[in-house]
Amino acid sequence: MVRVGLVGGGSIGHSHASSVRQIEGAQLVALADIAEPVRQKFAQEFGILTYPDYPSLLAQAEIDAVIIGLPDRLHCPVTVAALAAGKHVLVEKPMAASVAECRTMVLAAARANRKLMVGQAHHFLPTIRKAREIIQSGTLGQPVFLRDALIYQHWAPKRQAWFFNPALAGGGAVIATGVHQIDRMRWILGSRERTVSASWSHRSDVPDLEAIGGWFVRYENGCAGQFLSGSHTAYTGPHEYEILCTRGILRGTSWGKLEAIDEAGVAQELDLGERKSHILEEDRAFIQAIARDEPVPVDGQWGLEVLRVIEAVYESARSGKEVHV
Ligand SMILES: NC(=O)c1ccc[n+]([C@@H]2O[C@H](COP(=O)([O-])OP(=O)(O)OC[C@H]3O[C@@H](n4cnc5c(N)ncnc54)[C@H](O)[C@@H]3O)[C@@H](O)[C@H]2O)c1
Repeated sequence: MVRVGLVGGGSIGHSHASSVRQIEGAQLVALADIAEPVRQKFAQEFGILTYPDYPSLLAQAEIDAVIIGLPDRLHCPVTVAALAAGKHVLVEKPMAASVAECRTMVLAAARANRKLMVGQAHHFLPTIRKAREIIQSGTLGQPVFLRDALIYQHWAPKRQAWFFNPALAGGGAVIATGVHQIDRMRWILGSRERTVSASWSHRSDVPDLEAIGGWFVRYENGCAGQFLSGSHTAYTGPHEYEILCTRGILRGTSWGKLEAIDEAGVAQELDLGERKSHILEEDRAFIQAIARDEPVPVDGQWGLEVLRVIEAVYESARSGKEVHV
């Protein structure tokens, strides 16, 4: 049995709690959260122990693994503390607020000989998994151009105050939302990014965190990509991606459907199998990796490389120049 503690019981923490409860071989045993109402809610709903601070939870020897759903800038210190306490860690995306922090986390996992997984949950979305399978199979030929747009209306009061506070948030749209897009396209293509050219836009009332980011990527495999990412916007926009290949097009949405268009222009909707919660599937993969002592599917090195692209996007947006990743 893998006994799991949660650090952070907000929006994503609650999804993890509901998921862990459904996984055979896992047991949710405790939550740490600074907010009293959150602790009360978890105690009532899940019948688990709660702590107002994470060191108290990490001191519990019976906890094997922790899932961290905290503001971005707490990801690194809490992950390092959890690893040092001998726990396996699943840390939410973005892995951390900088590549330097990611490096510290990867080293801490190696030193502690514990698993470190990053919550890039789009690896567990049926459309993304299928898109990867099709692109990797080569049936549509070589990918040559892609576009990926993900525009959320992540604005108060829907979002907690920390999302608008640079001392706690790693950044704005690029790190909050773009992190999914960078991650999923490099995973689907199986290629690293070579260069990035970016621009951004800020709201006057949140001048330090970008509301929208746009960037152009040249991949090592010759494909090029155009990304549009929004989070502090006043509206919800498209959630779709399109990959143009030499023998056809793949067109999908994050949550909905995926279609392949052949050279004759005939579109075929692809079978995505049974719809399952991607957070549940992510947590199941984490628990299985621990139980079987196998590598986690999205490790710290992967999370670090995604952060490297994010830093290149920020550097390019600031300088107005193309940046090598
Ligand atoms: N994988 C996804 O698709 C996905 C979705 C949503 C959020 N996230 C990520 O998860 C993280 C959390 O986001 P959220 O939307 O759940 O935020 P949230 O504000 O809803 O939850 C954060 C929780 O952390 C608690 N907290 C803050 N500081 C603490 C501390 N020092 N010790 C203990 N608890 C503390 C807060 O009280 C709150 O309950 C972010 O990094 C976000 O990017 C990922």
